Amino acid sequence: MKEIVPSPPPIVRNDIGAVQALFQRHVVPSYGRFDLVLSHGSGSYVYDVVGRRYLDFGGGIAVSSLGHAHPAMIEALVEQAAKLIHTSNFYYHEPQGRLAKALVELIGPGKCFFCNSGVEANEGLFKLARRFGHDEGRFEIITTINSFHGRTLAGIAATGQEKVKKGFEPMVAGFRQVPYNDLSAMREALSPATVAIMIEGVQGEGGVTPATPEYLLGLRQFCDEKKLLLFMDEVQCGHFRTGRFQSYQRILEDSNFSPDGISMAKSLGGGFPIGAFWVRAPYADLLSAGSHGTTYGGSPLACAVALKILEVIEREDLADNAQRVGSYLEAGLRHLAQEYPSLVSIVRGLGLMLGIELAPNIPNLPGDPTKTQAARLINLLHSAGLLAIPAGTQIIRFLPPLNLRQNEADEGLAILEQVLARLAEAI
Ligand SMILES: Cc1ncc(COP(=O)(O)O)c(C=O)c1O
Repeated sequence: MKEIVPSPPPIVRNDIGAVQALFQRHVVPSYGRFDLVLSHGSGSYVYDVVGRRYLDFGGGIAVSSLGHAHPAMIEALVEQAAKLIHTSNFYYHEPQGRLAKALVELIGPGKCFFCNSGVEANEGLFKLARRFGHDEGRFEIITTINSFHGRTLAGIAATGQEKVKKGFEPMVAGFRQVPYNDLSAMREALSPATVAIMIEGVQGEGGVTPATPEYLLGLRQFCDEKKLLLFMDEVQCGHFRTGRFQSYQRILEDSNFSPDGISMAKSLGGGFPIGAFWVRAPYADLLSAGSHGTTYGGSPLACAVALKILEVIEREDLADNAQRVGSYLEAGLRHLAQEYPSLVSIVRGLGLMLGIELAPNIPNLPGDPTKTQAARLINLLHSAGLLAIPAGTQIIRFLPPLNLRQNEADEGLAILEQVLARLAEAI
C-alpha cells in the first residue's frame, strides 16, 4: 500500500507571528484562516513551524489524494520538470494525450479538456451548454440549493448558497437553483430556456450529502426527454474519493447511467493544480478550435503528475482502500455519534468523504463565540492534533488521503473521541 517515507525532523523555528504578520500586511484577507502555520508534510501527517504534528483529515479540501510528499509524485514532478514543464496549447505533447485517454477509459466514450481548477472546469461545461443551446436560444442552467461550484462570477451564480453571492450582484444571468434530491422541484423549474442541469454527486461544501440513486436516474430521464445536458460536478467527490472513480459510479453501482459532462480537479493533481472536464461523445466536438482555452491547461508537468497519481491509485488499489477504510471510519464516527448524541447529531457521506453534523447550540463550547460551532470544534481538534474542514456552520468534513491506513483512521477517531469526551463533561 502506502510507501513508507521517513518523517522529516520537525523544523523548530518559532516564527508563527512573523508569518501571520506577512499575511496581515500583504495578502488579501479573503479567507478566514485557522491559527496554524504549516511547514511540511509526510504521508497523512503535516507539521507546523514549531514542529507539532497533525493527522491531516482535511487533505487540503479533498486534494492530497496520495497524502503529502509521496515519493512517486515527487519523482514524476522532478522527471517531467527536467524534460518539459510547459508548452502552451499551440502544440501537442504526449502526457496530455495519455491523461485524456486514461480519463476516458475510466468514464466512457468522450473527450477531455484540461484547465487549472475546479471552477474553470465548471466554466468550460457552462460554455459547452451555451454552445449546445445557442441556436435555439436556450442558455439556462439549473443547479441546486446548497451546491458549490466555485468562486468566479459564473461559479457563484451557479452556486446555491447566498453567502457566496452576497455583495457581488448582479449575478451572471442564466442560473437558477432548486432543492437537491428533489425531482419534482427540478421538473417544475425547467423552462423553454433551460439547456442543462448541474449537480454534485455528493454535495461537499453544502454538508456532505450524497445524491440518491433515484435522483440521478430521474435527472437522466428528464434530460433525455427535454434534450438537456446533465453535468456532474465531481471536483470534490470524484477521483476515487467515494471508492469508485466518480461518485455516481459508487451511488449507482452497476447501472449504465452516464452524465453528459463531468468536471474534475482537486485529487486529480494531488496538490499540483490541474482541472479537467470530460464530455460525452455526441457533444465532444462542440467546442471547436478557438472557442475555449487556457494558457496553462494540461501542461506536460500537470498531466505527468496526474498520470502518476492514477498509476499509484491502480497499483495500490486505493479505490478499494477508500471504500474499506472509509466504511471503517464511518462506522467509528457513527459509534461516536451514538456515544455523544448531545454533541453529534448526524453522520453522512461515502467512502473517504465523510461529515458529522454537530447538535445545535452546544453549551459551553470553548472558543470565540462569534465563530461558528464547526470552526470552534475544529480549533479544538487542531489543538489535539487532527485537521478537518468545516462545511457551513454545523458540519465537520473528513477528506483524508485515499491511502489512509486503518490505524490512522483509529488515531483520528481517538482524537475526536478525546475532544468530544472533554466537551461532554463540560455540558
Ligand atoms: C464541488 C466543487 N466544485 C467546484 C469547486 C471549485 O474548485 P476550485 O476551488 O478548484 O476552483 C469546489 C471547491 O471546493 C467544489 O467543492
